[in-house]
Order: sequence, then C-alpha cells, then structure tokens
Amino acid sequence: MDGLVVDLGCGQGQAMPATGTRTVGVDLSQALLIEAASVGPVARVRLPNLGCFRTDAFDHAGSIYLIDLIEDDKLFFAETARVVKPGGSLAIVINHPAFTAPGSAPIGDIDGEVLWRWGEYDSTGSSSAPAGHRTIDFFHRPLGELLTTAAASGWSLVEMHERPLSREAIQAMPGYEGQESIPRLLGVRWLNSAAVLS
Ligand SMILES: C[S@@+](CC[C@H](N)C(=O)[O-])C[C@H]1O[C@@H](n2cnc3c(N)ncnc32)[C@H](O)[C@@H]1O
Repeated sequence: MDGLVVDLGCGQGQAMPATGTRTVGVDLSQALLIEAASVGPVARVRLPNLGCFRTDAFDHAGSIYLIDLIEDDKLFFAETARVVKPGGSLAIVINHPAFTAPGSAPIGDIDGEVLWRWGEYDSTGSSSAPAGHRTIDFFHRPLGELLTTAAASGWSLVEMHERPLSREAIQAMPGYEGQESIPRLLGVRWLNSAAVLS
C-alpha cells in the first residue's frame, strides 16, 4: 500500500508494519502506545476525534476491533473522511453486528445444533462482554445503519466480508464450538468520495 497510513486504535502496534508502508499509530492507552512506538510514530488520541491531524493528512486509514468500542460512529466516519485524502481508503475489521446486538447469544438446540438468537439487532444500543477480569461495552448498530452512516460522510463501499471464527480459533476456544457458520467478524473497505459529494 502506497502513502501514509493511520492505524486507529493501534494497540501495541501489531498491525503496524515495521518496514514498508509508513504508518502512524493512534490509541488512547499510553501503556499500549509505548509498545507501538517501537514499530513507528504514534499519537495519543481519544477517538473518534482526530482534531490533531490536518485535513487530507493520510492516504489510507485502518482500524481493527475499534469501531464497536466507539459510541459516535457518525463522528468517526466524518473525521476519517476529513483526514484521508479524496480517493484514499478506509478499512475496518470489527465484531459482526449480529454478535454485538443486546440480548444476542448462542442457543444450543436439543440435537446439539447451535442456533443464534438475534436479540435487539434492529436497534442501536450497547452490550457488555467479559474480557479477562473486566467487561467491555460494545456499541451496536445494525449493518445497514453502519454502511449508511459511512456513506453519508462520503465513504463508498468497495468490499464487505462476513466471516465466522476460523476453525483454528474455535479449536483454541472450545466455548465457540458449533458456531462455525455464524458470522462473527465483519470486514469493510471503502474509498473516500467526500470531494465528489461536496
Ligand atoms: C481490541 S483492541 C485492538 C487493538 C489492535 N487494533 C489490534 O487489533 O490488536 C482496541 C484498541 O482500541 C483502543 N481504544 C478503545 N477506545 C478508544 C478511543 N476512544 N480512542 C482511542 N483508542 C481507543 C484501545 O486502547 C485498544 O488498544
């Protein structure tokens, strides 16, 4: 990938390549940024605000497992469309909205099949999931709402993928057995057509 990339919610910088593409890592956690700084330049930012970056500062933006931690997705898409140049791209990976819907959960059928309860899929809201010794709040929005919100800021859909956990991941986490065909991850890539809209 050519140009300057911003990794939003970079954590320890796992996705920031050590060589090749120039990537700026952005995160809220000082502790994680100290580790990411060994990979490339970093900035401490409370997303979705990207006010510390000038308009058209980047060629591409990416974020892995972030947007469902951000309540204001309108601002996220507006700010990324501002800091990414026209024609640049935004790529995200998040938990699939089917997973973050309040009340959604797997249900074991009597024959052993695992079915999925959709919960309050069709509304916005939040749900909590255990993460080690604490819980994480996921902000849920239906898939159509996510894509429509992105489009309103000028993000034109290029590709979208819905995927279950890999067999290797399910083997490592036996609690997910039976969910091999339930979409668990969502990946989307857009191009910035904001200049065309304005
Ligand atoms: C699930 S981790 C993903 C980290 C990394 N992208 C990866 O895939 O390994 C979510 C990251 O987003 C960061 N984060 C969460 N809310 C944030 C916010 N409002 N502003 C900036 N970073 C945030 C966390 O500190 C954490 O590093």
